[in-house]
Amino acid sequence: MRVLGSLVLAVLALVAFAQEEEEEKECSVCMTNQFAKCQGSNCECTLQLSTDNTPIVNCSTLTSKCWMMKNEMYRIKNGIGTRRKPTEHAMLDNDGIYDPDCRDDGKFHPKQCNGTSTCWCVNSAGVRRTDKGDENQQCPELVTTFWFQIQLRHKAMDKEMDEAKLKEVITKSFAAYQVDPGYIEKIEYLKEDRYILVDLKQNRTVQTPTDLATAAYYIEKDVKGSSLFSSTYNRSILDDGIPFNGDKLSFEQAYVYYIDEKNPEFSMKQMTPGIIAVIVVVCLAIVAGLVVLFVTRRKAAKSHIYQKAEGRELDEIQKQQLTTS
Ligand SMILES: *[C@@H]1O[C@H](CO)[C@@H](O)[C@H](O)[C@H]1NC(C)=O
Ligand SMILES: *[C@@H]1O[C@H](CO)[C@@H](O)[C@H](O)[C@H]1NC(C)=O
Ligand SMILES: *[C@@H]1O[C@H](CO)[C@@H](O)[C@H](O)[C@H]1NC(C)=O
Repeated sequence: MRVLGSLVLAVLALVAFAQEEEEEKECSVCMTNQFAKCQGSNCECTLQLSTDNTPIVNCSTLTSKCWMMKNEMYRIKNGIGTRRKPTEHAMLDNDGIYDPDCRDDGKFHPKQCNGTSTCWCVNSAGVRRTDKGDENQQCPELVTTFWFQIQLRHKAMDKEMDEAKLKEVITKSFAAYQVDPGYIEKIEYLKEDRYILVDLKQNRTVQTPTDLATAAYYIEKDVKGSSLFSSTYNRSILDDGIPFNGDKLSFEQAYVYYIDEKNPEFSMKQMTPGIIAVIVVVCLAIVAGLVVLFVTRRKAAKSHIYQKAEGRELDEIQKQQLTTS
């Protein structure tokens, strides 16, 4: 009887101990994804994509752009964590965000419909690359975006810009987005416009390929002042700027251009590159409320370079172009 009694006591103590353990278990935050929830005895971190889809995310890597977009749409629809008050660096959002269909590995489905019967095809960065059609839209493959050009406009600085130092700092900053220096093809500085153009290209010799679309998305979000990282993550494009020659280097604009392995299939593709350049400029003026004529005209001269712009505006401008020509 005494043996049984102490056995029961021991079991009770064990249970209490185990419970205490569970209560005390505090999971650390997910460094690379401030919207992931980490809980349970294994501190697994998951991301809510829809009511019944919460995949596990790996907090030592960036979470795929498709999942981040889907989570943002979920939060918007459900009024969760309403958009944080933008910082002074926040800029007009030209995300063209939609509720994407993501594959189990986090990649975009080539065909996207935004929960409606209007569908279109996207590239591997989730950017629309065809006209919008109905639900019968055919998107036979996910076309790879192999080249990203990130255009960062920095704020005016007191001192003369040291270009060599700038390139070094940018390369270092991009490492925080898990962009291996081997992906940085070129960094160009346009002094008059304060634009830094960073060309990222897929590098097939790097063993673990970074998802450049995701890295570009994280960078864009940081410049816009709505970081996807946990606030404790030591990223470099910080709200208050990168320490730079005793000054601060901070950004006020970010544009991302996407170049696919195949030309996009907009019905305006027969138009001359000149007209397309104009369209992009007009789009920027509408969407961002400012004109970066020099950069845009220089960089959008090739017909297969296109900028992410809200579809509606693009369609409208296209119509205008068609009726005026
Ligand atoms: C998370 O990603 C890292 C880096 O790619 C990898 O080494 C690790 O095995 C991954 N962890 C899980 C649980 O998949
Ligand atoms: C997708 O749908 C949402 C709401 O249903 C809308 O606000 C958004 O503009 C749509 N995005 C696109 C790209 O069509
Ligand atoms: C690819 O990446 C490797 C390692 O970072 C680098 O040495 C190489 O120059 C890169 N190749 C190209 C074509 O960019």
